[in-house]
Amino acid sequence: RKSITLHRLREMHAAGEKIAMLTAYDASFARLADEAGVDCLLVGDSLGMVVQGHASTTPVTLEEMAYHTRAAARGNRTAFLIADLPFGTYHEDPAHAMRSSAVLMGAGAQMVKLEGGGWTPETVRFLVDRGVPVCAHLGLTPQSVHALGGYRIQGRDEAGAATLRRHARELADAGASMMVFELMPSDLARGLQADNPGLMTIGIGAGGGTAGQVLVLHDMLRVTRGKLPRFVRDFVAEGNTIEGAIRTYVAAVKDGSFPDESLHAY
Ligand code: KIV
Ligand code: NA
Repeated sequence: RKSITLHRLREMHAAGEKIAMLTAYDASFARLADEAGVDCLLVGDSLGMVVQGHASTTPVTLEEMAYHTRAAARGNRTAFLIADLPFGTYHEDPAHAMRSSAVLMGAGAQMVKLEGGGWTPETVRFLVDRGVPVCAHLGLTPQSVHALGGYRIQGRDEAGAATLRRHARELADAGASMMVFELMPSDLARGLQADNPGLMTIGIGAGGGTAGQVLVLHDMLRVTRGKLPRFVRDFVAEGNTIEGAIRTYVAAVKDGSFPDESLHAY
């Protein structure tokens, strides 16, 4: 297939085609996921947990993200490659975020992702004005896990939902082209997409009302031990092989059968 550009993603979104995203941290899986039809690869700072074995994403450094981004970029052929700015690398001011983004773009990222709302729009605008496409990330923002008090669903009460509505609008106005919604009620995520129709919203544990879906590779392949989150489906059992699992995931995102509101949503 031809390379998936930001322009192509916008066309897909405008046409109502769902966007399938999956994390990838190395060349082999990036190549496999690309060939299996994944539209966007995310070099997520979840690598701090599933690759490095940390208890959270907060210890991950910019150099580590750049290393994994270079590896994934070498394996990738056509997917759109996004990399996470890790904790502490965009927080001081917009110039700090630009310096860090330049490192990830130099490593092969085509877009950077940063977490949070309220204080982030100024930074997003600064990056977008300078040619860095930005994906925002609202809801459960894992880099703030110690402030949030655990990995729990966000926006359940009206005050929390109102804050998320404001943050999403401000980030869209600042020029974010994509936005991950993690762990929030389906109705809220659906409403946020409706409020910001041009924005490509990507859900994880946020129901089926978003423009696309993302999962952590190790979770969807059942490599992660312990109880899987509710929003993960057993794609390996359905697809038999790793490639089959990823193809099944892509097909299920595209035809809207994943996530199932009664099984994988809140
Ligand atoms: O780091 C990551 O994998 C992420 C996704 C869960 C969206 O941020
Ligand atoms: Na992340």
